[in-house]
Amino acid sequence: MLKMRLLIVSLMLNSGLALAEVSASRQIELTHLLKQDCGSCHGMTLKGGLGPALLPEQLDGKSTDYLVMTILEGHPNTAMPGWKTMLSTDDALWIANQIKQGLD
Ligand code: HEC
Repeated sequence: MLKMRLLIVSLMLNSGLALAEVSASRQIELTHLLKQDCGSCHGMTLKGGLGPALLPEQLDGKSTDYLVMTILEGHPNTAMPGWKTMLSTDDALWIANQIKQGLD
């Protein structure tokens, strides 16, 4: 029994990196931010504009870590700003997962 519990805990910890803890109301705010703020450069439907498209096919092969870092820190010397004053790591992780799987 104890072994089973340890296994479950370690599974939860391992998957913890990929699972963002974001409340339902925060998810609505983040979806709005993604469409409005990110969309102002990446296009309302994220098909690209001043910034590149953020669609699953473009992001395929890019790691979640890279996406989270990009969102939090931005890309120096480009128009891509860092969002860490507005977004927590969980927020950024949630957004990264959203854009990887694609908005509805
Ligand atoms: C002021 C314009 C602007 C805004 C606002 C903006 N971005 Fe960007 N973003 C860019 C540009 C330009 C690049 C390309 C940077 C480069 O050439 O490295 C970029 C790159 C990225 C990348 C890397 C894409 C890839 O294929 O490597 C991600 C992910 C990203 N942005 C996510 C976001 C998210 C999420 C938001 C909103 C929280 C956001 N961006 C808001 C301009 C913007």
